[in-house]
Amino acid sequence: MSKRIQIPRIAVIGLGLIGCSWIKALRMRGCVDEVRGYDRNLDSMQLALSEGLIDSYSEDIGAVVQNADLVIVSVPIMAMRPVLESIRAHIAEHTVITDVGSVKGSVATDVAAVFGKGFPRFVLGHPIAGSERSGVMAADENLYVRHKVIITPEPHTSKEALALVRDAWTAVGADLEHMSVSHHDEVLAATSHLPHLLAYSLVDTLANSHENKEIFNYAAGGFRDFTRIAASSPVMWRDIFGANKDQILKTLDLFSHDLAFLRAAIEQGDSTFVMGVLTRAKSARDHFSKILARRAYVEPMKTASISYIANPGKALSGSFRVPGDKSISHRSIMLGSLANGTTEVTGFLEGEDSLATLQAFRDMGVVIEGPHRGRVTIHGVGLHGLQAPPNALYLGNSGTSMRLLAGLMAGQAFDVEMTGDESLSKRPMGRVADPLALMGAIVETAEAGRPPIKVKGGSPLKGIHYDLPMASAQVKSCVLLAGLYAEGETSVTEPAPTRDHTERMLRGFGYDVTVEGNKVTLRSGGELTATEIDVPSDISSAAFFMVGASIMPGSDITLEHVGINPTRIGVINILRAMGGNIDVLNEREVGGEPVADIRIRSAQLKGIHIPEDQVPLAIDEFPAIFIAAACAEGETILTGAEELRVKESDRIQAMVDGMVTLGVNAVGTEDGAVIQGFGAEGSFGGGEIDSQHDHRIAMSFAMASLRASAPVVIRDCANVATSFPGFVELASDCGVNLQVESGDE
Ligand code: S3P
Repeated sequence: MSKRIQIPRIAVIGLGLIGCSWIKALRMRGCVDEVRGYDRNLDSMQLALSEGLIDSYSEDIGAVVQNADLVIVSVPIMAMRPVLESIRAHIAEHTVITDVGSVKGSVATDVAAVFGKGFPRFVLGHPIAGSERSGVMAADENLYVRHKVIITPEPHTSKEALALVRDAWTAVGADLEHMSVSHHDEVLAATSHLPHLLAYSLVDTLANSHENKEIFNYAAGGFRDFTRIAASSPVMWRDIFGANKDQILKTLDLFSHDLAFLRAAIEQGDSTFVMGVLTRAKSARDHFSKILARRAYVEPMKTASISYIANPGKALSGSFRVPGDKSISHRSIMLGSLANGTTEVTGFLEGEDSLATLQAFRDMGVVIEGPHRGRVTIHGVGLHGLQAPPNALYLGNSGTSMRLLAGLMAGQAFDVEMTGDESLSKRPMGRVADPLALMGAIVETAEAGRPPIKVKGGSPLKGIHYDLPMASAQVKSCVLLAGLYAEGETSVTEPAPTRDHTERMLRGFGYDVTVEGNKVTLRSGGELTATEIDVPSDISSAAFFMVGASIMPGSDITLEHVGINPTRIGVINILRAMGGNIDVLNEREVGGEPVADIRIRSAQLKGIHIPEDQVPLAIDEFPAIFIAAACAEGETILTGAEELRVKESDRIQAMVDGMVTLGVNAVGTEDGAVIQGFGAEGSFGGGEIDSQHDHRIAMSFAMASLRASAPVVIRDCANVATSFPGFVELASDCGVNLQVESGDE
């Protein structure tokens, strides 16, 4: 919000666009009593006066700054020192001076040379704003609204001076950010100075080539976009290149080095290397475009908050395919990256969780093409080919990424840190750190075993036998993946069967894995051979529609190509036990995973005590099953499901709270819940649900709305994109009545 300030007297030196726009904005907002101006061009001063930007001017710069409260120096960098010298003797004891130059180091040097080291009343500033136009007439009072202004205070800058300059910027709507002088110049060298240098240089090279006219005649959008900035002021850029010489040379050298490699790769026909550069750049640019679209450069970063307004719906119908399996998608990237050769994946889930895994492997130097309509090509680097990532691996909301990667990272020669979003940062990681430590890995977690996780590289691992303390496929997979790098044999025993995608996929990549009863064993020393992976639809995403069609009378849908791995079909078993009408059709096997089409017709469900052996087989589907239980005739009891409390949210609490809000008689227990179904005649009431940022809670209540008597408002649904991109469209197409409302958090 703009702050109301009143500055009695401002002097502005240099009547260009940047200074005039600031002055105009301050005047129009009534923040200044008197403005005096100076420019070395008399014309500009006369024009500024007649436009009402300044109250007076003088050709004597000393007279202009006399007694000013604030002096704004808006002159080219090379003019800075002589200007400061000519005002030095005329400024008052209280005068604060600021500048707007795009290099800060050279200005800081000039200030120290002219006013002495430690001068407290000069505040270095740089507005990140501009216009294609220049001069007095281009002054725009809104130029700085929601634009960043970088202030680079020095240790000796006085608080009062800083506050005055900050107030003068916030008053005109700018967003302020502080940086050190050297950091500013480093950042600007990379993001502004080098691109300008390259644009000028390329145009010059082309203009000097003998066929230049011909070339420019054919120059299209790419040329225009790349070289637009070569049309700005040569004098200004000569000065900037000189003033920020060291930082520009540093980034230029880095760029030249990388460019030489790209040149060599093109020369040698190394298309994997070339694709590596292009795919990494594209994903970085796409990310940047998203930031730009949210206008984060001009506004503080905001996350969109999404709510669903779900109105009572109609019977579900249609035959359709839900997105690819999340667990299999993660593993396809991991094993494809570590394989020898090129792995082709189809049906890949383009959700944020599996994309986080994909980005992590890109960060570790793997060339990955796509995803494009579910197709991903992974140029495997072999078990020992990963490179140290430049930064911590950011894994968003994805527990699977973090836990499986912990195992893989333990076997690498480099150190890695893994971080995640707010929800992931609260999830237990001791369950993977403990067995890895037994294998000899050095794994550090934050307090109480929470992320971030730091894995030290280069520690030799030894194979262990691990008795899983809980039924968790993530922990099992973590240990097995570390086992690929551990001396000898690694085995895991699980207390109950959990999803076995890791074991199946390792075999698909030609790696020997033995399973005897509840014990899985592998030995290190093998290698993975690239393969093709067809990812089936995710039964966990299909589950919402299975429940929706079951509870909504008259429904009849078919979900195509759904993975029905026996370790995942708890939801089908449970719904059938409740009286659900589910047909599994067209069973087939695709790439080592069983797949089928699933037809669901509505049925009056009845409450049951859910068999505990089904719990691990339906672990992600309970939020949806709770909704089915609420619509059933009689009581449903869930026990043995304490793991639900440590998922993306505490799913027992989140579901019970939401159901109670909608009028259901439900109570949570330590390891489950007891739900009294309202039966055929009943319905959910309306109300507002807090999804706890948990995708599965949000989608479950969207299905509940089918049987609601009034609108259900579901808050914080943005994370649905982690596992089910396109959920709203698909659900709406088949009969759910969903509206999306988005705002800024
Ligand atoms: C997953 C295992 C399960 C599941 C998660 C995906 C996997 O977690 O809830 O969504 O891909 O291995 P746990 O291992 O914690 O039960």
